[in-house]
Amino acid sequence: MTPPTSFLSGMTLLNDPRQNRGTAFTTAERRMLGLEGLLPSRVETFFDQKKRIEHQISEKQNDLERYIYLQGLLEKNETLFYSILASDPQRYVPIIYAPTLATVCQQFSQIYRRPHGMYITIEMKGRIAEVLRNWPERDVRTICVTTGGRILGLGDIGANGMGIPIGKLQIYTACGAVPPESLLPIQLDIGTTNAALHEDPFYLGLRRMPPVMEELDEFVEEFMNAVQEVFPSCCVHFEDWKGTDALRYLAKYKDKSLCYNDDIQGTAAVTLAGILTALRISRQPLQEQRILFFGAGASALGCADLLVSAFMNEGLSEEEACSRLVMMDIDGLICKSRTDLLEEQRRYAFDGSSECSLIEVIRKIRPTILIGVSTAGGTFTRQVIEEMCRNTERPIVFPLSIPHAECTAEEAYDWSKGRVLYAAGVQFPAYTTSEGQILRPGQANNFYIFPGLGLAVYAARPRIITNELIIESARALADQTGEAELEQGQLYPSQSMIGQVSFRIAERLASFMFNHDLAQERTPENIVEFIKKASYSFEYSQ
Ligand code: NAI
Repeated sequence: MTPPTSFLSGMTLLNDPRQNRGTAFTTAERRMLGLEGLLPSRVETFFDQKKRIEHQISEKQNDLERYIYLQGLLEKNETLFYSILASDPQRYVPIIYAPTLATVCQQFSQIYRRPHGMYITIEMKGRIAEVLRNWPERDVRTICVTTGGRILGLGDIGANGMGIPIGKLQIYTACGAVPPESLLPIQLDIGTTNAALHEDPFYLGLRRMPPVMEELDEFVEEFMNAVQEVFPSCCVHFEDWKGTDALRYLAKYKDKSLCYNDDIQGTAAVTLAGILTALRISRQPLQEQRILFFGAGASALGCADLLVSAFMNEGLSEEEACSRLVMMDIDGLICKSRTDLLEEQRRYAFDGSSECSLIEVIRKIRPTILIGVSTAGGTFTRQVIEEMCRNTERPIVFPLSIPHAECTAEEAYDWSKGRVLYAAGVQFPAYTTSEGQILRPGQANNFYIFPGLGLAVYAARPRIITNELIIESARALADQTGEAELEQGQLYPSQSMIGQVSFRIAERLASFMFNHDLAQERTPENIVEFIKKASYSFEYSQ
């Protein structure tokens, strides 16, 4: 192993997580870099180091402790941290992200040790560009930003939501090989409606209510402009904003700024990918499907808008496409007679009365696809699944609510006698039918999409992210589910393959960007080599 390329030495080198190799520094390196005496004598291989880390992780009592341990590792040795995560994403993503992150966020102020990323408060309005310049890296390509307004089913948790952009960007690197120095987590501290946090002595955010909409809009506008001023062509990834804010800002910025909303566009892409794969199994054309959304919030509207574009790509008019989608919310059917609808919901308003149950709506519109984004666990009953089975031989049922699905995989397979093509927001175990066939429920996890998209954005620097690009990401994902997986009803590739899956998605998306005049980088001769060159190496640099 050759010495690291930096000029750091001694304790300064050991304290630099990006350059530090700890016990893997060789005898010669130790002498050359002033490290003699600062490390125990044994020189370890990278493999030895990872074994010790894995052992230490396994000794921890619970995932919260594992989370704290792993973040501590990141502060000491970034390469080891990402290499451990990438070695087994199926095991580690649930620790650095949901579901562990829900506990982390609840206790964020209590377990806080040191800052990762930036906190921009509403009180910095007028000076955001100046504050962003305090970040030590100059070439930032993606910022993940939250207000903490609606975190993982915890509601508004203000500055404690910072765990989300930190975790999300760690997945960019662990699953998509996006270089970590190009990523910046930001918490826009606008205050919180959470009264308990105002009283919490440990709470680290502003103890005030969020501003009115006009003031927030001005703040966000200044933030978006400041990002482009300080980090030109950086992508702003919105994460876990309050639903109406999320929809409003995506609509406002998506055609003029490089931005992405994972709750809306990522969910839409992973859902469309699941549908496309399911239709490969049932051998049905997309343009003939009728889709019922149970829940009409940010996720439903994002999926619906993407599906309309996908239908239109198949030759349907916008009106025909919209008429294929029907939505229900907590107050019943989204229909024209209602006066409480959001502007975005009006596009899908149905002719009819809102006062009908889910069963009645299924009987009326005979959907072939049922998508649950209602937050209401257990609402897809046996009767609902049986009714879906009357419309089509292989109904597609995606109960996406987290943490409580509208129905479990076991229930859906059981009640439909194995006919349902199923994916959920949470992972359910495999199911064996009475005939002994194994069915593997898919998990519609957004991490199938955003790391690959993030790598393509990093490499090709698109000007904006279009609906067509999001549809291409869904197609690129759907194409990666193999025949053996399809036979078991599995709608997504195995999670252990996420690194390869993300690479293929990045390749497809970068090609799409170059072919559709979206990229700012020059078209490379070899797209695979281009993406490889952009990718983070999970080993010590040579
Ligand atoms: P949201 O709060 O914006 O919308 C929820 C919608 O469900 C609202 O229209 C509400 O009226 C409706 N609703 C609530 N209770 C209902 C009931 N009993 N019956 C019918 N409708 C009801 O939430 P958002 O962001 O749209 O997320 C919805 C769910 O989807 C959440 O549980 C979220 O965790 C999950 N989700 C899953 C993803 C995935 O699997 N990849 C990605 C994003 C969200």
